[in-house]
Amino acid sequence: MPVPAIDLTVYPDECDAFGHLNQASFLTLFERARWEMLARGPGMDVFTRAGAWPAVRKTVVDYHAAGFPGDVLRFTQTLTHHGRTSFTMRQTARRLRDDTLIATAEFVFVCIGRDGKPVPVPDEVGRFMNARNGPPGDVHRLTVNGVNLAVDVRGEGRCILFIHGYPLDRTLWQYQLSHLDGCRRIAPDLRGMGLSDAPDLGYSMTTYAQDLAALLDALGVDDVVLCGLSMGGYVAFEFLRRWRSRVRGLVLMDTRAEADTAEGRRARDAQAAQLRERGTSAVADAMLPQLLADADLSHSPVAARVRRMISAAPAAGLAGALAAMRDRPDSTDLLETLEDIPTLVASGDRDRIIPADRAREMAGLIPGARVELIAGAGHLPPLERPAETTALLSGFLASLDAKRPPPAAGAR
Ligand code: MLT
Repeated sequence: MPVPAIDLTVYPDECDAFGHLNQASFLTLFERARWEMLARGPGMDVFTRAGAWPAVRKTVVDYHAAGFPGDVLRFTQTLTHHGRTSFTMRQTARRLRDDTLIATAEFVFVCIGRDGKPVPVPDEVGRFMNARNGPPGDVHRLTVNGVNLAVDVRGEGRCILFIHGYPLDRTLWQYQLSHLDGCRRIAPDLRGMGLSDAPDLGYSMTTYAQDLAALLDALGVDDVVLCGLSMGGYVAFEFLRRWRSRVRGLVLMDTRAEADTAEGRRARDAQAAQLRERGTSAVADAMLPQLLADADLSHSPVAARVRRMISAAPAAGLAGALAAMRDRPDSTDLLETLEDIPTLVASGDRDRIIPADRAREMAGLIPGARVELIAGAGHLPPLERPAETTALLSGFLASLDAKRPPPAAGAR
């Protein structure tokens, strides 16, 4: 059962002269929702009982849309980091009537004792929020490389590591996680996205790849098939540069090997400026028409899902990803060295961000690579054409098994 969502009504005395919910009142509502949630769980006195008072160290609020008197807002609470003496909670407020995202916020707390010194976060709080948080029961939280990452792990067998693109999260692979049978599917939220920690600084392709290597270590996984979509492909290239001997196969989906051009780098900075000014919904507005083949965004459930994914992402993580993509190295030279790594290059045939011709060109530079276009998909085939994408991946994994040498007699 998930941590309870809390519904709170907006009152006129919380609004400004124009009748909009005032930004300062938001802080009160976020706080009330947190206490109410605790009241319905371990009790409002959970901190007092443990002699640990939660002091706010940092607050980040993204205001997405106006709230008005009488609106009922639904607040959801997620624990995105659980350290020894500190924890981070992400909260989302949506208008119940039309599901409009009104605001998202992130609060970093440090627990302090009566003497003003940091003390451990009460176990009960972590247990309540972690144990009851995940709608997806397969999502684990692991602290590796200095960050707490959320990772969905399902199935048994050969491991496939799904690496999502920007500005998305592990749920991009939701269908594949449920339906790609016969293998162990591992889909983390990269740092700064989804439910993973979102530090302010320190984002690069190297850091993402280091996170993934450390995550595989923590899961006890030696060898993997990497499956990276777009920015996930950039991360896969970096992983290959460092841990090539762990890679048994490679899927490059709607991605490219070249670095950003000067114009591309300027566009990253322009999007980062928009993100600072208007929040994550500005990124959703700018990117949605590019991401999907379907032009009718207002009626598409996939578009609604992607918009929710982007809007709920932490702004610090998206800004970090923009900088990491802007500064990534060119990986073209790597392609011709991949002769020993079975590679599938896959792309939506209607991808506007990285057109299918580019996928064909890239595949042409990888010895022995297979290229497949997914009909009717744009930049996000795992969501737009989930069954076709899964079938393609399934066939690719089966082809790897067919190539695997039979076990030596003594090893049977
Ligand atoms: C992605 O989907 O990860 C991004 O569109 C990649 C990019 O902007 O280069």
